[in-house]
Amino acid sequence: MKIAIPKEVRPGERRVAATPETAQRLQKLGFEVVVQSGAGEGASFTDEQYTAAGCSVEPDVAALWAGADIVLKVQPPDELPSSDPYRGTGKSHEVELLREGVVLVSFLWPAKNEELVERLRQKKVTAIAMDQVPRITRAQKMDALSSMANIAGYRSVIEAASFFGRFFTGQMTAAGKVPPAKVMVIGAGVAGLAAVGAARSLGAIVRAFDTRPAVREQVQSMGAEFLEVEIEEDGTGEGGYAKVMSPEFIKAEMELFARQARDVDIIITTALVPGRPAPTLLTRQTVELMRPGSVIVDLAAESGGNCELTRPGEVTTHNGVTLIGYVDLPSRLAPTASQLYGSNLYHLLADMGGAKTWHIDLEDEVVRGSIVVNAGELLWPPPKKEAPPEPAIKLKAPSVMPPPAEIEKAARAAKKPGRGASLGLLLGAVALTLLGAVAPAGFLAHLTVFVLACFIGWQVVWNVTPALHTPLMSVTNAISGIIIIGGMLQVSGPPSSPVTILGAIAVLIATINIAGGFLVTQRMLRMFQR
Ligand code: NAI
Repeated sequence: MKIAIPKEVRPGERRVAATPETAQRLQKLGFEVVVQSGAGEGASFTDEQYTAAGCSVEPDVAALWAGADIVLKVQPPDELPSSDPYRGTGKSHEVELLREGVVLVSFLWPAKNEELVERLRQKKVTAIAMDQVPRITRAQKMDALSSMANIAGYRSVIEAASFFGRFFTGQMTAAGKVPPAKVMVIGAGVAGLAAVGAARSLGAIVRAFDTRPAVREQVQSMGAEFLEVEIEEDGTGEGGYAKVMSPEFIKAEMELFARQARDVDIIITTALVPGRPAPTLLTRQTVELMRPGSVIVDLAAESGGNCELTRPGEVTTHNGVTLIGYVDLPSRLAPTASQLYGSNLYHLLADMGGAKTWHIDLEDEVVRGSIVVNAGELLWPPPKKEAPPEPAIKLKAPSVMPPPAEIEKAARAAKKPGRGASLGLLLGAVALTLLGAVAPAGFLAHLTVFVLACFIGWQVVWNVTPALHTPLMSVTNAISGIIIIGGMLQVSGPPSSPVTILGAIAVLIATINIAGGFLVTQRMLRMFQR
């Protein structure tokens, strides 16, 4: 199967969908990689580097797109520049270059690009949107939004530093004392935390605010202060992401920002609730409270901005305060952004079977979440994930016992188990009774504990939101520790006894679980280490 990597045509876009290194990895999956001549220029990758990495370099755009089975891009298909030689053939848009049946993988933003999606559908292509990859644990390696937000957060600090007239770190020199810069980060998601890390590493005093109290510890562990408002409201929404806050909360946080504005030098603002316009958190009056020379970087510029004075894509000044509204921060760090994005694409293609067992599996949560068009059939938006079934009897945690009549009514309202389930329960009960008659005295007690442990463990793991799977791993490590102690107490018997064998198996499996947990945790910690 042939993968085409075109040169991005959107003005100012420097990223490329594959670097020589990721192109090499794609070849290991069995793909043939063809790169448009000059595709990597903006990210400092030459045609020679691609050739050395085993790719073919194609100067003819039409031949590149026509020969491809899969087209990997960064930006959604766009107008061809007026200088493009292919324009001469009467085609003016990249969509027109797509062959029927081709798979296109790129950022697509289907909610705001309806017309483009319709054109892709009519072209009978398959289009996968990298911006729609669900943020679930398994898909972290394909999460291009997080890769780009991480870069944007880091770059926002670098941009702020370039407009700010002082050091970030405080200095005591022979010529006098320079105070450290004070940075406030609003929204401690992926981009916000990257900004906190970058500003701290430059030596600034950093404060951060977020509506989700869960990020407090992350902020503090990076050496920053977590700001709080007096109103208690948890901003954690579905899947661990943010939810829209009450007007009272927004008012309280805006007052907090107005107070902070008098004190801080730089504000980096990243607040966003997925699928919503960015909340306005910094008013003109707040900006006017800042000292001249201060800088605001508004990462949410593209979704309307967190500051009412932001102009998307522009740098403006108001009362001596510089407002940066760049919407292309990842592209300003093009080599790294291309490497990470290319890596996200590699993982997605590997997950879809590579060239050898390539398939579009609509049962796969990641594929179903990100596929927009499948061979001309519109599949976006994906069906909402079914909420877990409501418990038959809702326990309301009453302060007093409800009257017996109500309990009876609720019990009657509970669904009767199906015939299959009843038969299963009956068989289970018979089996247990028979087992109880022949098994040793303590066996049934142990079996009950075992069944309850399985049931409760399954319920606990199943009901944890994917965003919290990593902390959950630490808890399972603790449980595995207890299992090892239990197992060790049992292995001292005769080697061939079932108790010894079971004890040894328990020790082995729990050890694998702990070692695996440590390995994954270590990998995650390394991501935050300098
Ligand atoms: P995220 O969803 O991980 O983080 C957003 C954070 O904002 C969440 O932690 C959320 O709790 C918080 N938040 C929501 N409402 C808030 C409020 N009222 N007050 C305080 N905090 C609030 O998003 P991510 O990936 O970190 O991206 C952040 C922003 O950066 C987005 O607007 C995204 O579009 C933008 N971005 C901008 C780029 C650029 O070039 N300018 C490039 C990449 C991302």
